Amino acid sequence: MTKAAPPKRLFIKTYGCQMNVYDSERMADVLRPLGYALTEEAEGADLVVLNTCHIREKAAEKVYSELGRLKEMKGRKAEAGGVMTIAVAGCVAQAEGEEIMIRQPAVDLVIGPQAYHQFPELIARVHRGRGERLSADFAAHEKFDALPTSRTVSGVTAFLTVQEGCDKFCTFCVVPYTRGGEYSRPAEAILAEAEQLAAQGVREVTLLGQNVNAYAGEGGLAGLVRRLAQIPGLSRIRYTTSHPRDMDEALIGAHGEIEALMPYLHLPVQSGSDKILRAMNRAHTAETYLRLIEKIRAARPDIALSGDFIVGFPGETDKDFEATLELVRAVGYASAFSFKYSRRPGTPASAMPGQVDEAVKEERLARLLDLLNEQQLDFNQAQVGRTLPILFEKAGRNPGQVVGRTPYLQPVHIEASTGLIGRIAPVTITAATRGSLTGALAPTPALEPA
Ligand code: 5AD
Ligand code: SF4
Repeated sequence: MTKAAPPKRLFIKTYGCQMNVYDSERMADVLRPLGYALTEEAEGADLVVLNTCHIREKAAEKVYSELGRLKEMKGRKAEAGGVMTIAVAGCVAQAEGEEIMIRQPAVDLVIGPQAYHQFPELIARVHRGRGERLSADFAAHEKFDALPTSRTVSGVTAFLTVQEGCDKFCTFCVVPYTRGGEYSRPAEAILAEAEQLAAQGVREVTLLGQNVNAYAGEGGLAGLVRRLAQIPGLSRIRYTTSHPRDMDEALIGAHGEIEALMPYLHLPVQSGSDKILRAMNRAHTAETYLRLIEKIRAARPDIALSGDFIVGFPGETDKDFEATLELVRAVGYASAFSFKYSRRPGTPASAMPGQVDEAVKEERLARLLDLLNEQQLDFNQAQVGRTLPILFEKAGRNPGQVVGRTPYLQPVHIEASTGLIGRIAPVTITAATRGSLTGALAPTPALEPA
């Protein structure tokens, strides 16, 4: 018998959104048959992949500084007689292509988000010394058709991509250019993947898409959720990110009807000023967004709402910013993400007059964060005294602790055995901070079987 070759070490660093987290897992899947095993350390790895994000300037710049560090590691590995291959994947790869090669000669391969199924072939070409440079303009369906159908996961929760790309063209955003037009995976492929995940012990899936609620398969996203909810073992379903425009009646209704659909919704609004929303090409007003929230709350009164906000979009005055604060007060968010407007080359907003000073953006961001943080703490504190079903995900940092999540997505720490991992058990919440909750197992009802 021949002995198996030692595994080659693969290090993947993921930036940006959950879609990239999912893609990184799939990259590891396509590379596994080539003998690559994941490692936690870039130093000494045989293949390093940076799965990059281009959404804001800072995210893109981080990649170049990381590449500087990797260049040194590559040098050290070469001195020791080894080879480190460096690949840049993700949206910076798609947007900047060969420019990356020029700025950082240590990069061997640039591969865009639609081309991951080609990874093994490209790596082989690089190793044959051809220094391949890829311009990644594949269609999303080719990617999904060609990715291996089996997926290895270890956790209790998993991401599952159902849709990619965006046709909305918000004037600040690079996604329609880096991820291409909207594409929905066939429901059958998604269901098969979800069944596999459930068979591996996954209890919760988060359906991913840049515009996940624009899912265009039969029955739309609501229909898909309904079918996923039938899979034994799969107790919790979430989805992200949604556009207010695609929040249809069926999906709103689903929040009131499907038990497995968790009461949490990330529904970015970006601004509370109609003038700014128009300039952003958002296709909704503050008023229509608020009406939508009312409808959603009518269907599911306890739903936790989350959103994205941009401050300092071109032309934003103090009055426009005040309208954003007002909208936040009217909604009451359980969590949120806020950003300073970042000028992205090639997007319409980058050429708009009235670009806002950095200092003004800083100040507005701080004020918005104060309000959102206060709301988040309020939401968490309102859970104290309640008994909630908690899905336990992992051991806590301190011995004897396990961590799970509420239906509203807050982490909960309790003192209990790690035997709870993978189970849903009732927990009475005893304390809350802005970031997490503490609780104790409630005596009744009895634990459900695993
Ligand atoms: N500047 C700042 N924030 C941005 N986002 C997208 N593009 C930009 C940009 N150019 C934010 C939006 C979006 C989230 C994913 O990132 O709020 O919803
Ligand atoms: Fe970007 Fe707007 Fe599409 Fe979201 S909906 S990905 S913000 S263009």
